[in-house]
Amino acid sequence: MIHHLRCTGCARGIEPAAIGGDFRCPECGELFEVVYPEWEEAKRPNPGALKWLWKERRSSPAEIDQSGVWRFRELLPIVGEADVVTLREGNTPLYRLPRNAVRLGLPELFAKHQGMNPTASFKDAGMTAALSVAKARGFQWVACASTGNTSAAMAAYAARAGMRCLVLVPEGKIAWGKLAQAMDYGAVTLQLQTDFDGCVAVLSEVVRRAPVYLLNSVNPYRVEGQKTPAVEIAEAMNWDVPDHVIVPGGNLANVSALGKGFLEMQTLGLISHVPRLSVIQAEGANPLFRAVHEFGGERLEPVEAQTRATAIRIGNPASWRKAVAVLRQTGGRVEQVSEAEIALAKARIGQEGIGCEPASAVTLAGLEKLMAAGHVKREERVVLLLTGHTLKDADYTIAYHRGDLLRPEEVGGLAEQIAESRRNAMPMDADAGAVLRLLEKERL
Ligand code: F0G
Repeated sequence: MIHHLRCTGCARGIEPAAIGGDFRCPECGELFEVVYPEWEEAKRPNPGALKWLWKERRSSPAEIDQSGVWRFRELLPIVGEADVVTLREGNTPLYRLPRNAVRLGLPELFAKHQGMNPTASFKDAGMTAALSVAKARGFQWVACASTGNTSAAMAAYAARAGMRCLVLVPEGKIAWGKLAQAMDYGAVTLQLQTDFDGCVAVLSEVVRRAPVYLLNSVNPYRVEGQKTPAVEIAEAMNWDVPDHVIVPGGNLANVSALGKGFLEMQTLGLISHVPRLSVIQAEGANPLFRAVHEFGGERLEPVEAQTRATAIRIGNPASWRKAVAVLRQTGGRVEQVSEAEIALAKARIGQEGIGCEPASAVTLAGLEKLMAAGHVKREERVVLLLTGHTLKDADYTIAYHRGDLLRPEEVGGLAEQIAESRRNAMPMDADAGAVLRLLEKERL
């Protein structure tokens, strides 16, 4: 099936082969999105048949069917099957969070754990799609600027495809687990003395001057892959979608992608309505929050981003206009949360046996704020999007439980709850008596 690219700013259409290396519209500078003309001409696939087919593929041994992205390939017909590069991404669990649900007075609370992907973050779903396109177009080099997870995913998929890759990351501002992955998978990894936004600026010049395929999320094919978790959520809930889906916001591609996924499913008759999609940012990296609350979503002023949730330490998000459109189309909100709220929320998710990275935990902290403001009602079914695995950033977790993460002035009114949630590792003599005395104290 044919796909086209359409500018999200001026609606200009362009043939896929004619797109520039920076993926920006030559007329207005905005980003493109993939559209499928057949859906608009009402030659739509039968929704019942699709649901049946996707379920059937779950028991297929074929590599492409075992991928939770390509299992839904009718929704992203962007490459031929022979060009697909997959690590069996997707098919991630939708967990219940019963203790947090009770604490918040919600009937049901779910976590879609995208950290359970091959490189342990949600980026794999987009990377399998865009890297497959790069391969189909004959590129030998791919590149990205990253806060860590995109580079880990790109490096793995490039290695699978036998392609070379260039990673630009901000020096000292990404978690070690992510840097280790890029090295492990053989990327050319450069730590630049700037922040994420500075890395993006350098890379945009590199791709203008060299035949390198850009795999940042301005690439519209990344978005096609990243929309499939929306399909998985709908499928896991028997096509009765939740009331609200809450997503962390950094460069803002993820909310744009999930929004596209839910809206397309509605167009195709797979679901009857779309959930509200809300975005949560860290207070120190809140350009979308400010764009919406100060400028009515019409203008975004870049900020100098600061947060320990390094994955979302982004001050000038590329996909902010797409994100605003999704907030408007679905009736979602944007909230911001403090460093202490993020850390406590992460511990509370951990206490349910689910490990996520700090950037993912903004969703639970944000949910509490949305409830307090009346934007999420007590009877609603809510899904939190957990974007990365806890092992990505073990330093953060250890610092939190040791009590070294937050400064006293950051903790504020949360001191008691934070103290209660901390579980430091204790040094002890190699002596069973000492261990038993401690267990008594813990009321064994
Ligand atoms: N959560 C995690 C764990 C991330 O790595 C990112 C983004 C986000 C949330 C935000 O998603 O950018 O689509 O709004 N990480 C990018 C990277 C920027 O380079 O790995 P977004």
